[in-house]
Amino acid sequence: MSKVSTSILTLEKEDAVKTFYDLEVAHTDMFHIDIMDGKFVEKNTVELMKDYSLTLSHITNLGLDVHLMVEDVESFVDEYIDLQPEYISFHIEATKTKERTMENIKKIKENGIKAALAISPDTSIEEIKEYIPYLHMILVMTVIPGKGGQKLIPETLNKVSSLREYITQNNYDVDIEVDGGINGETAEKAKTSGANVLVAGSFILNATSFKEAVETLKK
Ligand code: DX5
Ligand code: ZN
Repeated sequence: MSKVSTSILTLEKEDAVKTFYDLEVAHTDMFHIDIMDGKFVEKNTVELMKDYSLTLSHITNLGLDVHLMVEDVESFVDEYIDLQPEYISFHIEATKTKERTMENIKKIKENGIKAALAISPDTSIEEIKEYIPYLHMILVMTVIPGKGGQKLIPETLNKVSSLREYITQNNYDVDIEVDGGINGETAEKAKTSGANVLVAGSFILNATSFKEAVETLKK
């Protein structure tokens, strides 16, 4: 069955703690933490996401799914290792060299955290193939990174299919997470393409029932 990771990017601070509890009751599998540094993407969520992550680490046993949209991957990996999230994802577009990419993957894994590489819509899957044997998950961005509430770019699902085919052919055990514009309809397509971890922000947070929204995505 697929897993649902709720993106808390657009949450208002006043509602945060109550919403965290409600999402847990609604059976989200993880909390997706979108860390933006104001450089890799325009927005800056560094303080807010640190605040939410600390709160979550005190009040829930559910996994944190940390998505680093930052240039200085090393500093944020160091900072988030302490919180022992379930996953840390960083962007291949941020690390650029093989050495830097591998060092970050190793550091994440050696600290007992699952390592994931994220790819933006304009990046080809060829860029990440060599790292797949070392990864727990690939995060395929289905919108341009930077903000919630966008429409899924249909072509990104072709990347999901090709990746799933490649992973199966080579007998790797790697999750594929899709992130951006996921709703009842696009979730279905993403799963058919081979994704098994679904990030959703607005679809869940704007729903009248979190529980129904999460169930719809898992179906
Ligand atoms: C976009 C973020 C996503 C986003 C998902 O840069 O990585 O996690 O918040 O939000 P929705 O589901 O609203 O597209
Ligand atoms: Zn994200």
